[in-house]
Amino acid sequence: MPQTVRGVVATNAKEPVSILPVVVPDPGPGEALVRVQACGVCHTDLHYREGGINDEFPFLLGHEAAGLVEAVGDGVRDLFPGDFVVLNWRAVCGTCRSCRRGRPWHCFSTFNASQRMSLEDGTPLSPALGIGAFAEKTLVAAGQATKVDPSARPEAVGLLGCGVMAGLGASMLTGNVQRGDSVAVFGCGGVGDAAIAGAKLAGATTIVAVDLEDRKLALAREFGATHTVNAARVDAVEAVREATGGFGADVCVEAVGNPKVLEQAFFARDLAGTVVQVGVPTPDMKLPDLPMIEFFGRGGALKPSWYGDCLPSRDFPYLVDLYLQGRLDLDRFVSETISLDEVEEAFHKMERGEVLRSVVVL
Ligand SMILES: NC(=O)c1ccc[n+]([C@@H]2O[C@H](COP(=O)([O-])OP(=O)(O)OC[C@H]3O[C@@H](n4cnc5c(N)ncnc54)[C@H](O)[C@@H]3O)[C@@H](O)[C@H]2O)c1
Ligand SMILES: [Zn+2]
Ligand SMILES: [Zn+2]
Repeated sequence: MPQTVRGVVATNAKEPVSILPVVVPDPGPGEALVRVQACGVCHTDLHYREGGINDEFPFLLGHEAAGLVEAVGDGVRDLFPGDFVVLNWRAVCGTCRSCRRGRPWHCFSTFNASQRMSLEDGTPLSPALGIGAFAEKTLVAAGQATKVDPSARPEAVGLLGCGVMAGLGASMLTGNVQRGDSVAVFGCGGVGDAAIAGAKLAGATTIVAVDLEDRKLALAREFGATHTVNAARVDAVEAVREATGGFGADVCVEAVGNPKVLEQAFFARDLAGTVVQVGVPTPDMKLPDLPMIEFFGRGGALKPSWYGDCLPSRDFPYLVDLYLQGRLDLDRFVSETISLDEVEEAFHKMERGEVLRSVVVL
């Protein structure tokens, strides 16, 4: 029997979200029904409600979530009712050209649930990033639910489902930060702070945090930054060079999504260093106009990072274990816990830069 639950729906571009009844089908083959316990408010949810991702309104928002499996459909062998899971937007297919070459973290054909959730009048909903977890229950492809240690706090580990994983992976996987490396992170929101935490976990000794706001820089120190730079007041490139013996950082992470910042990250790098682009640009942005001799002459690599190059089945359980051992402070990303009715207000707090993450608790 389909169930009707409460969910946060964006019905029209740039209009406040509404709480509406959402009809959730029983799980079909390869699907899982998840009772959501916590879901973080991410910038991408706001992008959806602004119409910045696509026009497939209405959207069921929310995608950084943890919860309990309630039921699974036919053919699901590795999930059982009661399992504690973190949801992901990379349910790998196993058969695309990237998966077949042993690179499932780049899977080009990821799975979502095949049945649609809908409004009561039958209008199908587009779930944000194929998840839609600002709802009491959601329907996903079984591969979108990764089982983790059930003793973890859902509001903390649910954040691994998107921004925090993207930031951790930007340093640890895409940037391949090594022991003793120097790292500079540009933009210290949830994603940038996770990149800082990832750099620290990977053994970086110098970690430079760059932002325009002093309170963000103070938080960045709590995650492991050894130096902070307010780019509104000083030249960010010079300041990163100064913090790294005059040379620049081995790995620079752009966590804003801004061509000017990408340019700073490019020049704040040591020779043969890596720039990781994890901030998401808008469609109108252009790459900075760089002399090609600088691109060649500086060597190294420029690497976009999709979801931190993570493989949820490998990385979520391992990062939850680090969290439970006190080696990865996911609690610090949770600025506040809220109810479903407070998501619209949480968007405004995010726009004002007041929070790293507001997390809906159900
Ligand atoms: N690649 C991925 O898979 C992935 C996943 C999730 C989020 N993201 C993207 O990562 C980016 C950051 O997300 P977030 O949740 O941390 O956002 P956020 O808004 O919380 O943080 C952005 C930070 O950048 C700072 N900033 C803005 N302009 C700056 C500038 N010119 N120089 C230095 N700092 C500046 C802001 O003060 C803020 O602290 C977004 O573009 C988001 O869409 C990417
Ligand atoms: Zn694939
Ligand atoms: Zn997100």
